[in-house]
Amino acid sequence: MAVRDVIILIGPPGSGKGTQAKRLENALSLPKISTGDMLRDAISRRTALGMEAKRTVDSGGLVSDDVVNGVVAERIQAADCRDGFVLDGYPRNVSQAEAFGRSLGAGDRLSVIELGVDTDRLVARLTRRRTCGSCGEIYNLESRPPEVAGVCGRCGGDLVRRSDDTEAVIRGRMDVYRAETEPLVRFYRGNGHHSQVDGMAPIDDVTDNLVGAIRGSAPGG
Ligand code: AP5
Repeated sequence: MAVRDVIILIGPPGSGKGTQAKRLENALSLPKISTGDMLRDAISRRTALGMEAKRTVDSGGLVSDDVVNGVVAERIQAADCRDGFVLDGYPRNVSQAEAFGRSLGAGDRLSVIELGVDTDRLVARLTRRRTCGSCGEIYNLESRPPEVAGVCGRCGGDLVRRSDDTEAVIRGRMDVYRAETEPLVRFYRGNGHHSQVDGMAPIDDVTDNLVGAIRGSAPGG
């Protein structure tokens, strides 16, 4: 198997994982794999997976490990993942990390990067987030507003608010992050793959710092 660059972005809801995964896709020429996007796509197309996941995603809970592990295991077999990929939102807990770890080869270069953002900024970011319903471009009414209100500057699609971006559900997602994903951060810290990048910096700076962290962690890189 070819050596792959495997990037895992970890961070609380609203820390910028989706924004940065898309930028890393371009900067590193690696596909991004966002489990949240895949689940939302399945929900909007009303597939069997979408029907099963909808209630959980809408309420801010985690979809079952078996389902998500299966979706990712299949996706990373695709030809475009041959040289590596950027994971946004997966793994989400230690059990998913252990399952995913079994799919890694000895030569794969793993970079696990945690995006740190103050908790009090997260609710403000998410209640002001708007996402293009067509191409998935992510906007923010405060930090990255569209040029024309409600319209995606990239493809002309309509901007929508995610159904799980209500304040009550956001707070529930943060509780889930603390209970399920913070132990995962400690798991990766313990095995030496973890680094942290300041997610409060301007978006371009965060991208530069991520690329620096990834290149710094690659053997020989
Ligand atoms: P998912 O889509 O992964 O949601 P999340 O983890 O809650 O993260 P978000 O997408 O809300 O935030 P983000 O960190 O991507 O921030 P963004 O870049 O958009 O998952 C959704 C649901 O799917 C889960 O609740 C669960 O039900 C299910 N699910 C997904 N994966 C799963 C898994 N592995 N296992 C089980 N269930 C799973 O940025 C947020 C806002 O901030 C935007 O408006 C953006 O413009 C702005 N912003 C970004 N960066 C900056 C910056 N540096 N400065 C100022 N503003 C910024």
